[in-house]
Amino acid sequence: MGRGDQSGKDRTVRFMLDGECIELHDVDPTRTVLQFLRDDLGRTGTKEGCAEGDCGACTVAVAELDRDGERLKIRAINSCIQFLATLDGRELITVESLKKPDGSLHPVQKALHECHASQCGFCTPGFVMSLFAQYKNHGPQSRREVDDALAGNLCRCTGYQPIVDAATRMHELADKDDAERWLDTANSSTTAPSADEKERVEALQKLQREVGFRTGNNGRRFFAPRRVDELAQVMTDNPDATMLAGGTDVGLWVTKQFRELTTVVYTGQVDELQESFVDDDSVNFGGGVTFTDAMPLLSKHFPELDELFLRFASPPIRNAGTLGGNVANGSPIGDSMPALLALNTSVVLRHGNRQRVVPLSKFYLDYMKNLMRKGEFVEWISIPRPRGNYYLRSYKISKRFDQDISAVCGAFWVQVKDGVISDARVAFGGMAAIPKRAIVCEAALRGQPWRKQTIERASVLLESDYQPIGDMRASAAYRMQVAKNLLLRFQMETAADGPLTDVYAYGR
Ligand code: FAD
Ligand code: FES
Ligand code: FES
Repeated sequence: MGRGDQSGKDRTVRFMLDGECIELHDVDPTRTVLQFLRDDLGRTGTKEGCAEGDCGACTVAVAELDRDGERLKIRAINSCIQFLATLDGRELITVESLKKPDGSLHPVQKALHECHASQCGFCTPGFVMSLFAQYKNHGPQSRREVDDALAGNLCRCTGYQPIVDAATRMHELADKDDAERWLDTANSSTTAPSADEKERVEALQKLQREVGFRTGNNGRRFFAPRRVDELAQVMTDNPDATMLAGGTDVGLWVTKQFRELTTVVYTGQVDELQESFVDDDSVNFGGGVTFTDAMPLLSKHFPELDELFLRFASPPIRNAGTLGGNVANGSPIGDSMPALLALNTSVVLRHGNRQRVVPLSKFYLDYMKNLMRKGEFVEWISIPRPRGNYYLRSYKISKRFDQDISAVCGAFWVQVKDGVISDARVAFGGMAAIPKRAIVCEAALRGQPWRKQTIERASVLLESDYQPIGDMRASAAYRMQVAKNLLLRFQMETAADGPLTDVYAYGR
């Protein structure tokens, strides 16, 4: 029998920090990693800015074992919204961890220093850690890739050019003499594991559990099941529990809305929920797969959605946030749902031992309400593989290119045979209280020639499908106009005689 105890006797969270195993008993379910670092350890290199995942001042890195359990996988995350107990079995790396034994700077820090990339320094530890994750995971990067890596970090005084310069220089400063210190080696996934990495892997292997554990204090509980059957049982026994995946929505309920969560059930250690697979008919993601892990498969099967997912939040949010959490949260301005609706996605819901399959188009009932019963959860998200000749696009309209909330997000899928639309699905976020298909508009597209006049006629019918509201992001009239224009852009980009070529910021 491996370590781990669902009964509640072993209420200890264990993780690695700077070579030491940290053991914490009776951990408050919603204490954040940032509070632990600053308040409990006095480790104040990591800063607090916004406390909502937006500014990156709190960025740290987390290393965990890869799927085979033999190498380290490293990710930058926002410590301000990450709950401490989620670190169990992982290694926490902070800006202080990068300091070399002789006190000299890490190549990332050296690059920021040499490029004059910091002034007040409040944001700098966050930039260091985002760049550190980039340095460990990739070789030298293009300007666009650097911009993307830094999309979750704000600096209000230096300006970004010196920081971008540092990002492009850091690999040059890798010190060959430090090849044995895993923290110093660039893009370590492409090289054989060093003795240091092996030691870190062994330390984490010892912390892995075969069954889940629980912790908590003052009557508040945190469960971290390891298997989906355990998860189903915990949810059946605690139907009022809050399910926690990446915490990029739930974390803000605590840090911004000061909600008290009594029972938290974490999906991030449930093996089956982290899996993805493809079969003849569908592309499937476990309910706990993060955006970062889902993106390569999405990109392979639906390359038209690349830009949408790169514009989803920032790398630290995508490293923690899950597709399942986005779907279950059901925000009317959530970005994955229009594309998933356009692709005719289904969700597999699990309650105890029972599963049911629900089309996503039937999943949302009203503003932030879905048809999941208490104790039920999203086990799988299943996207059918489209056949034949089809066109697919999704466009996100927001005030900023990176890390912004959509005013409108539209997704379009049509199948065209002999110049006639045989099937069509159109879906929008930001146009109604829920992410929603445009049934009336779709009906007007089917059976019609795939040309501009058809689209112009059908786009007017979006007024029957949606009555958007106006808010600080966009007026109702703007939303409606933009929705019509996006449908037209879709046709103009994809039709053989269309005047537009793909306008992809990332190139294809
Ligand atoms: P959590 O916060 O852990 O959970 C969200 C909800 O889903 C909770 O109600 C939880 O109980 C429930 N839940 C989680 N997993 C399951 C499951 N398997 N079954 C049933 N219920 C479940 N969203 C966008 O759409 N586009 C953006 O560009 C975007 N940018 C953001 C930027 C920032 C700075 C932040 C903080 C958030 C942003 N979000 C954005 C929102 C958020 O990142 C997404 O909604 C994300 O997908 C939530 O996933 P999560 O794993 O973090 O969910
Ligand atoms: Fe701003 Fe965490 S403090 S992202
Ligand atoms: Fe980044 Fe000042 S140096 S906010």
